[in-house]
Amino acid sequence: MSVLVVGGAGYIGAHVVRLLQDAQIDVVVIDDLSSSSAERVGAAPLVELDISAPEAPDAIAEVIRQHSVDAVIHFAAKKQVGESVERPLYYYRQNIGGLLNVLDAMERENVKKMIFSSSAAVYGEPDETVVLEDARTAPINPYGETKLIGEWILADCERAWGLKWVALRYFNVSGAGWPELGDSAIMNLIPMVLDRLSRGEAPRVFGDDYDTPDGTCIRDYVHVKDLAAAHVVAIGALDGELSHHQFNVGTGTGSSVSEVINAIGEVSGLDTTPIIEQRRAGDPPKLIANADRIAAEMDFEAHLGLREIVDSAWEAWQAGPNRIEK
Ligand code: WQD
Repeated sequence: MSVLVVGGAGYIGAHVVRLLQDAQIDVVVIDDLSSSSAERVGAAPLVELDISAPEAPDAIAEVIRQHSVDAVIHFAAKKQVGESVERPLYYYRQNIGGLLNVLDAMERENVKKMIFSSSAAVYGEPDETVVLEDARTAPINPYGETKLIGEWILADCERAWGLKWVALRYFNVSGAGWPELGDSAIMNLIPMVLDRLSRGEAPRVFGDDYDTPDGTCIRDYVHVKDLAAAHVVAIGALDGELSHHQFNVGTGTGSSVSEVINAIGEVSGLDTTPIIEQRRAGDPPKLIANADRIAAEMDFEAHLGLREIVDSAWEAWQAGPNRIEK
């Protein structure tokens, strides 16, 4: 089998590339390297390409032919929620335009398997704390909308030309499977806390007056190595009969912001006493995956917990440019 990983140099994509290589599966990467670097893909062939460019379908088709690709894992997308609100057209062009170009090349080259990076952002602010895949989809920003529309496009391609697909809806992905593959962006809680600590500043908690046991928001933190493994399992599952297309990927349990910050303090030995700031707009108090569907249909379960996530995120941070000297 030969797998094309689009966006394979990114944080999650590079973990999947590493696992595919470890499993002796042939892999080729397309990435525009806009938020990543070539070293992350190791020895895998890398084609540098902006998939939203007009000439991209031809270039992608060429990669598919050259590498006899049988399946595509599609990560390449912009993912900053705030930026998506400010620049919706850019998000639609990159995330939807890019997906259309990849699918166009796949249809032409008769490649009929895709794993798509979706997100818990498709649920918006769900009524339930523990979210099932059948929950109402009501994204509250263009980023989440591009993920939901992506799922609809895949369903249409299935009807039109027999595409087999799975959308994995990620919850709060964090940690590092290998120290050199840590999350280099400072966009989510753990990197944001480590970044503050690097600069000698106290971590920030955005609101401690939520209706949760310690007053801070609860999320389902899933280790990026577990998430990467889910993609490899899903590729195999496309060969069988699946009853659904959308699968949450989370642990089914939640951790609060305070618990995460305390865990960082324990692992690092640093004082992580936070400062409490205002609530951030659009933060639901609790968001946890119901992870039963992927367990039942693909026999997949995330088994790494908050401790492993924080341990590995710390190790990766200390291997990077902003290492904290104690
Ligand atoms: C987690 C919790 C913050 C930083 C976002 C996107 C989602 C998905 C994942 C992509 C919240 C709190 C954070 C800090 C804090 N994106 N926080 N202090 O908002 O659950 O999800 O990333 O694919 O679509 O919305 O993740 O890591 O930003 O925040 O108190 O310095 O940590 O308020 O409660 P979020 P997050």
